[in-house]
Amino acid sequence: MTFDYTPHQASTRDALSRLESMLRHREKTLPGTKLRAYVERFFNMKDVFLDLAAVHQEPLYVLDHENLRKQAGIFKETFAACFTDFSCYYAMKSNSHPDVSKTLLEQGFGLDVSSGVEVETALSLGASNIIFSGPGKTAKELSLAVANSSRVTVLMDSPGELERLNLLACQAGKKIRVGLRITPPLSPWKKFGVPMARLGAVWKRAQECEGLDIRGLQFHTSWNLDPSQQTKTIAAIGKEISQWSSSMLHSLEFLDIGGGYWPQAGEWQVYPATQAGQVQKLAGLDIQKPLEHFYAPASPLEIFAQSLHQALERHIFPVAPCRVCLEPGRWLSNGAMHLLLNVVDKKDPGLVITDAGTNAIGWERFEMDYAPVLNLTRPSMEEKACEIMGSLCTPHDLWGLSYWGEDIQPGDVLLIPDQGAYTYSLRQNFIKSIPRVVPMP
Ligand SMILES: Cc1ncc(COP(=O)(O)O)c(C=O)c1O
Repeated sequence: MTFDYTPHQASTRDALSRLESMLRHREKTLPGTKLRAYVERFFNMKDVFLDLAAVHQEPLYVLDHENLRKQAGIFKETFAACFTDFSCYYAMKSNSHPDVSKTLLEQGFGLDVSSGVEVETALSLGASNIIFSGPGKTAKELSLAVANSSRVTVLMDSPGELERLNLLACQAGKKIRVGLRITPPLSPWKKFGVPMARLGAVWKRAQECEGLDIRGLQFHTSWNLDPSQQTKTIAAIGKEISQWSSSMLHSLEFLDIGGGYWPQAGEWQVYPATQAGQVQKLAGLDIQKPLEHFYAPASPLEIFAQSLHQALERHIFPVAPCRVCLEPGRWLSNGAMHLLLNVVDKKDPGLVITDAGTNAIGWERFEMDYAPVLNLTRPSMEEKACEIMGSLCTPHDLWGLSYWGEDIQPGDVLLIPDQGAYTYSLRQNFIKSIPRVVPMP
């Protein structure tokens, strides 16, 4: 039988063939040795967490300053091995607890902020080197930057923002240091920055503005498991600026290459997050495979540093030997907080309810991501299937489909390690109170 596909039918066929290939796709399995070593490392610290749980008897975020300082040191050393002229700015949005930013300021980081609230936090912490990026900055936010122009560099997101900022700076009789954000050419995130084709014209306009002191360019690509997106963007920027006049290049002092460095553990996922799992879920099939975990490896930070350096040496430095700025978030903050919960109720052998809800992390993270849940009260290197749910009135309030331990009972203390990035910052006031933050002793 032959079919005469109209364009609509053809796209249905395309969709079906795509779904079929997704069903056949097999993600890597999370290596058992890697997982067991991870779980063992945290079980070895169980007494510290159990003492905290005994004192506070409530769900907690445990702030791990030591881990944060260690990550900060590794980050700087790794880039220092390749770069001489570079600056690091912590992306505050990844964990907005002031102590996290404070610790990173003490480690010599500047702060990367994306709203007036974050500018205020950075100023109140005494930061002297703040970069302010993000789309849709309001007049109030821009005025705050102008008022603190000795400490804040604005990374402008559009020609409209450029004109608004210039006006505010001129009205205040100031000249503010600025950069220009670029829309990464290969990214679907069009809402950020100025497209490459308009970059030169906007740069020239900024050079004419009385209130602006244009000094740099910025881009940010997200979720980089390896440096390829960043190096391609650097090549595209090199191609663009090689056509600029020397008077344009003269003021190009920095290139900010953003954040998005994936933590080295890689991305750990549950079955429903895999391609086959997504299709089966869409089809309403049972997709719970609680003891199967999947994995997308991430490049080590040294590979990021080396590849980025090579790309800059090749495409940027021969044209503009500028300083390089980095805006890491999750790579630093992921291990800066751990979650401690208590089991309140056991409803059947395969279902327990905890005292905290996932409003503590603000999204349905564990429907997609796998994070081991460790029963510190009954530790064991065995993983058992059991739905670990929070106490909110939604079935999406899930911590995990399994736990590591001998058994699980009401009163047990559970640890979910490495919940510092994009969890605390996204916490919501919804039904349950938000866990307290306590420092790790
Ligand atoms: C402009 C900018 N810089 C840096 C970051 C930090 O990214 P990550 O936490 O993935 O390193 C973000 C995150 O969205 C961002 O938007």
